Amino acid sequence: MQNILLTGTAGFIGSNFVPYFLEKYPKYNLINLDLLTYAGNLENLKECENNPRYKFIKGDICNRELIEYIFAEYDIRGVIHFAAESHVDNSIKNPGVFVQTNVNGTYTLLDVAKKYWMENPFVYKDNYKECRFHHISTDEVYGTLSEDPNNLFTEKTPYAPNSPYSASKASSDMIVRSYVETFGMNCVITNCSNNYGPKQHDEKLIPTIIRNALLKKPIPIYGDGKNIRDWLYVLDHCKGIDLVYHNGKKGETYNIGGKNERTNLQIVNKICEILDEKIPQKESYKDLITFVEDRAGHDRRYAIDATKLETELGWRADENFESGIMKTIDWYLQKAQK
Ligand SMILES: NC(=O)c1ccc[n+]([C@@H]2O[C@H](COP(=O)([O-])OP(=O)(O)OC[C@H]3O[C@@H](n4cnc5c(N)ncnc54)[C@H](O)[C@@H]3O)[C@@H](O)[C@H]2O)c1
Repeated sequence: MQNILLTGTAGFIGSNFVPYFLEKYPKYNLINLDLLTYAGNLENLKECENNPRYKFIKGDICNRELIEYIFAEYDIRGVIHFAAESHVDNSIKNPGVFVQTNVNGTYTLLDVAKKYWMENPFVYKDNYKECRFHHISTDEVYGTLSEDPNNLFTEKTPYAPNSPYSASKASSDMIVRSYVETFGMNCVITNCSNNYGPKQHDEKLIPTIIRNALLKKPIPIYGDGKNIRDWLYVLDHCKGIDLVYHNGKKGETYNIGGKNERTNLQIVNKICEILDEKIPQKESYKDLITFVEDRAGHDRRYAIDATKLETELGWRADENFESGIMKTIDWYLQKAQK
């Protein structure tokens, strides 16, 4: 058995990852460290709480003493690091906590892992040679794209983060990079596009659209609604993480994205059309769409070129937007009925 430290898995992506990973790999014990900020919810992991190979620890990734204790107590052999402050709007209101968690927290985890796994730069301790640190990051580090469909983010696109959120994630990527280059640590980074699916926090776009539609409240859409994101079903992200954690090359970064570019307006219209079919009302849900003042510094377009992950590691998204959004809406409808 091997013990892997997962951080931030009471949040959206991590709580989809844990049940998938637990079931697929009976050889792993998973230790989940999460501070349970407003974004973390243990309800998301109810299905795992009695699994003897899953353990939850409430705590802060910035707490070095705690991280050192966890590494020693559980003899940690791998880290998959999801924990972050993740909502761009919050980073505009309160950037400090983004720098603290995303930059200092990542540094603390990395530095403790280095101390626990390595003897000297480029020299791992015996028995720790396979230990790997996987840092989960975002395509937002690359900044914004023009609307030319041939213009995509590759792993070679220069970093140009525009929000305090993306700048803090870009900084954490750079710290990880420096631990590869300076200390020879076995790290990988994945930069993924916008995820959607079950268990996402209410504050994010798709849950907000579904919730407000069901409550017949105005559905707020920023600016002209033409900002483009490349939407990936969360389980396809989890499968990409699994592939990179196990087979990615040391020191490499991999972009993950599903070639599903949609404007916010297309997203809201699609969801309203599905709800019009599933729970018809006198008026279409589209009548609730309300344009609101744009987000400050709102990036216009993100789109991922995932060729490297596809050709080197054989990743393919199993869901397209049409199939993924149906599963997602069904999940939120069930949640609303509870
Ligand atoms: N959601 C997306 O579309 C998306 C896309 C690409 C990359 N990412 C990245 O994936 C990761 C997970 O994103 P998510 O959407 O699941 O985020 P989330 O906000 O839903 O969850 C974050 C989790 O981290 C925990 N956390 C926050 N600060 C902590 C701290 N100091 N110590 C320990 N735990 C702490 C929270 O309690 C929460 O459970 C993040 O690193 C994010 O940058 C997200």
